[in-house]
Amino acid sequence: NSEVFILAIESSCDDTAAAVLHNDKVLSNVVANQLIHNQYGGVVPELASRAHQQNIVPVIDAALRKANIQKEQLSAIAFTQGPGLMGSLLVGSSFAKSLALALQIPLIAVNHMHAHILAHFIDEEGYDKPEFPFLALTISGGHTQIVRVDGFFDMTIIGETTDDAVGEAFDKSAKILGLPYPGGPLVDKYAQLGNPKAFAFTKPKVPGLDFSFSGLKTAILYFIQKKQLENPNFIEENTNDICASIQHTIIEILMDKLKLAVKETGIKQIAIGGGVSANSGIRATLKEAEKKYGWKTFIPKFEYTTDNAAMIGIVGYQKFLSEHFETSSVVSKARIQF
Ligand code: KG4
Ligand code: ZN
Repeated sequence: NSEVFILAIESSCDDTAAAVLHNDKVLSNVVANQLIHNQYGGVVPELASRAHQQNIVPVIDAALRKANIQKEQLSAIAFTQGPGLMGSLLVGSSFAKSLALALQIPLIAVNHMHAHILAHFIDEEGYDKPEFPFLALTISGGHTQIVRVDGFFDMTIIGETTDDAVGEAFDKSAKILGLPYPGGPLVDKYAQLGNPKAFAFTKPKVPGLDFSFSGLKTAILYFIQKKQLENPNFIEENTNDICASIQHTIIEILMDKLKLAVKETGIKQIAIGGGVSANSGIRATLKEAEKKYGWKTFIPKFEYTTDNAAMIGIVGYQKFLSEHFETSSVVSKARIQF
């Protein structure tokens, strides 16, 4: 079947997103960011659900218009089932159910974490698709996982964080430096101007392929407090170097585990996904690893790294082909088995 049109809806956290795919090609990919949370220094679930409710109809409308598709042409509706904030997920799933019912077309439930990984299968000029098996490093504000991917729906988590996610490590470090939320992109920006070896932070000792980031945050806090006793302007005078050193430490932690994962599995194809894969240092380090270690690395197009609905759509397309549909009694799941 070469004429599959999927409308995909993503509302797991604080972005309301809709996309239309024609087979594995993205016709439109619309995201409404909720800036309301920035003033609170983190996502406020109650406000997120309300904003989804406000945004969902205009966002879906815009996705259909940009794709130049009538809703009667749609083959199926795919939505994020979880993991995520329950109140946010419910807005997307209820809308998806109603529209699928009204149009009498199949309903497809998508695991958000599968979607971050399978985003690499979107047909996009200049971007190669990985071959099975490959390793996926999923790094976002909520997750840090190394996943062994043997097939579209054959995935095994082989390593994950035991506390904070990488995105939280970036955001919490930024907060210590007095940078506004979400600080990850700002740390990245200042890091590009600083010396990554200016300051040394000890890396956590975690066995196997698991991660820990909460200790790093504490180490940074104590380091800053100590330096500020000597020089009250320490942060202002060293922002670039501090950010470069923090980012360097985080990248080393990720790379140490990736190297171990490659060694243990023998798999040298590495795909990254999740909001933190927008980080310029991580992107550059992974590119270098191709020459340095003989890996093949897959770095998604920027708009498919942070939360988006196109990645939900590509999973929807795969599930459509295998007729993996849901009834309208399917429920959202804040936590979801891989
Ligand atoms: O995947 P995502 O959009 O949302 C979820 O958490 O699911 O990821 C958001 C996270 C935030 O922690 C944000 O600070 C981080 O990704 N982030 C970055 C960069 N861009 C976004 N962290 C470091 N460098 C970046 N350039
Ligand atoms: Zn995400």
